[in-house]
Amino acid sequence: MTAVKYDQGADGIVTLTLDLPGRPMNVLHPDLTNPLSDAITRIAEDKNVKGVILTSGKKEFLAGADIDGVVQITDPAVAFELAEQFKKLLRRMEKLGRPVVAALNGTALGGGLELALACNYRVAINNPKTQFGLPEVKLGLLPGGGGTQRLPRLIGIQPSLPLMLEGKTLNPEKAKQAGLIHEVAADADDMFAKARAWIVANPNAVQPWDDKKFKWPGGDSKSPANAQVWAIAPSMASAKSYGNYPAITNIMSCVFEGGIVDFDTGCEVESRYFANLVTSQVSKNMIGTLWFQLNAINKGSSRPQGIEKSTVKKVGILGAGMMGAGIAYSSAKVGIEVVLLDSTQEAADKGKAYSANLLDKDIKKGRQTAEGKDAFLARIKATTSYEDLSGADLIIEAVFEDRTIKADVTKKAEAIIGKDAVFASNTSTLPISGLAEASERPKNFIGLHFFSPVDKMPLVEIIKGKKTSAETLARGFDYVQQIKKTPIVVNDSRGFYTSRCFATYPMEGMTLLAEGQHPRSIEMAGLQAGMPVGPLAVQDEVSLSLSLHVLTQTRKDYAAEGKTVAEHPGVAVVEKMCNELKRPGKKAGAGFYDYPVGGQKHLWSGLAQAFPLQAQLPQQELIDRMMFAQANEAAKCYAEGVVEAVGDTNIGSIFGWGFAPHQGGALQYINAYGLEKFVNRSKELAKKYGERFKPAAILVKMAKEGSTFNA
Ligand code: NAI
Repeated sequence: MTAVKYDQGADGIVTLTLDLPGRPMNVLHPDLTNPLSDAITRIAEDKNVKGVILTSGKKEFLAGADIDGVVQITDPAVAFELAEQFKKLLRRMEKLGRPVVAALNGTALGGGLELALACNYRVAINNPKTQFGLPEVKLGLLPGGGGTQRLPRLIGIQPSLPLMLEGKTLNPEKAKQAGLIHEVAADADDMFAKARAWIVANPNAVQPWDDKKFKWPGGDSKSPANAQVWAIAPSMASAKSYGNYPAITNIMSCVFEGGIVDFDTGCEVESRYFANLVTSQVSKNMIGTLWFQLNAINKGSSRPQGIEKSTVKKVGILGAGMMGAGIAYSSAKVGIEVVLLDSTQEAADKGKAYSANLLDKDIKKGRQTAEGKDAFLARIKATTSYEDLSGADLIIEAVFEDRTIKADVTKKAEAIIGKDAVFASNTSTLPISGLAEASERPKNFIGLHFFSPVDKMPLVEIIKGKKTSAETLARGFDYVQQIKKTPIVVNDSRGFYTSRCFATYPMEGMTLLAEGQHPRSIEMAGLQAGMPVGPLAVQDEVSLSLSLHVLTQTRKDYAAEGKTVAEHPGVAVVEKMCNELKRPGKKAGAGFYDYPVGGQKHLWSGLAQAFPLQAQLPQQELIDRMMFAQANEAAKCYAEGVVEAVGDTNIGSIFGWGFAPHQGGALQYINAYGLEKFVNRSKELAKKYGERFKPAAILVKMAKEGSTFNA
């Protein structure tokens, strides 16, 4: 079966229907591009063909490059050739001398959109779910099929840059406004009718860049307006990315250089930058984790097998504070009926008002309507009555972090809900198996650890208690996916996975401060490492007082078990900041930073006196200490079975606490560094700075065996 169906109509118009056998989506695979190339040859040789319509036999048009193939490439010459071959095919198509129309029945991303851009005209069915864009940057790549050359020549250099640098996707209406497509159609019939009509009306269509009278919309790279852009855009981009994303630099280079040369030279320039990225460690890291491992998670790799998929119709949320309010919003957003319970009606209403606020913001941005808002809010019942929980499939407890209060609300809710309802706690620190002791049905008890702010954060850490059943885990997993978040599954232990590893980052930052490193160097090292926020700033956000509270609780728990805690040297800084300097964090307006009302936050000038400067370490030493601390802890969690899957460990680190995405997550960081090198450097750091850097036993073993962390 061929992947390209060739149908010639009585009007001389050939419809090429792309339908790659055995795949749910069309991708740029030789099984598709070879027959497409043959079809182009056939058309070129048949003078009776009046025009061509390119469409897809699948739900979507074409999803992009075949990532399975791209990730295998290690030789830049091979990557260069791959890009050149595809571009040659597109060039032959746009130089057929016959009008070619892309009839976009669904999403066209990356290479799919590049194929469409090589058509003379683009008409799309107006389905708001359809997406058009060039998102290659998100995997550390660039559009290597002429996208960096055609798009700027089509819509202008300035408007094209954010589309490629941020990998934004647009629905058909927005794509039309942006100039990516020409026309929208009501349905498939309308789309084909419009495509045919255009072909008939434009028998001599030529691509703008092949037209002798071609003028760059908004000017080429040398035009005064664009010269200004090129003077500042690269520095703005590297101020954000700290040079960690070569794709950003390469995309800008393609567009800039493409803007001073002819189209075909620009295309060749693009292939060279593409080859550089395909073989880069950053794209390997990002593809491995953010493509393969994330897809596996989304397909349920950590979900118990053989249990029927479930959906939640009604969720009861106990505690309408910051977390409860956010969970209510995320649940109602996907159509779930929500009961939001607090101890006073005022507190419950306040929790519901959180959704109203977010919806108002959406209305202002044109993303929500007044009727939509009303319907959304009608799904949330703010209450103090446990009776309202009747019929809920799932309860999520988000009251104060206090065992007694949690036990009390568990009992009250269980008295009302059905025997098979799932009960989840959003605790951030209390072991789930302990909380489950308050439950009559510990099999149905689980941890669903959300992150703040819930409406923005993509991850939920699912915690299995000692007695949690496989069915409860599957149902928790299904709910997390139902609210369109990514679930990772972890076993019950102190700090679970994400909180435990995350803490090593600010702790190392604070240790460096105590050792007399300049706070600005410390913050900069975090950002240079690829973390979204510096370690001191993030500690301020979390609040030093909360960390102190958790520490005190941990000390108590250990003492009760007759153990002592091996304390991190950063703890002394937390205590000094809270107890002595009375600077408990951002909420109080005073932490490592000052937060002037209405002004910009800045490092507190008193730090110089509180933590006097000593000899400064090389910046790379700071970076290594922060990254090794996190990665080593993640390896320990994996070895201890706190987190069972490599994919969950990597994705959890990026989505949960912002571990440098270009490194592909905490374990991939170790892979890319090299196991043996990592172990040796860890030993070096341990000797200089303390036992906490001693490499996890699993790493020493893996280094000896020459193995890596594989999903
Ligand atoms: P919060 O203090 O904003 O909200 C707690 C709410 O529970 C308050 O509205 C309070 O009135 C209500 N509440 C207290 N006792 C109650 C009772 N007996 N019956 C009904 N409602 C009661 O706290 P937040 O930040 O929302 O945290 C809630 C839970 O989520 C805690 O277990 C916390 O550890 C956990 N968590 C917090 C995160 C955060 O970033 N704040 C992140 C992840 C988990």
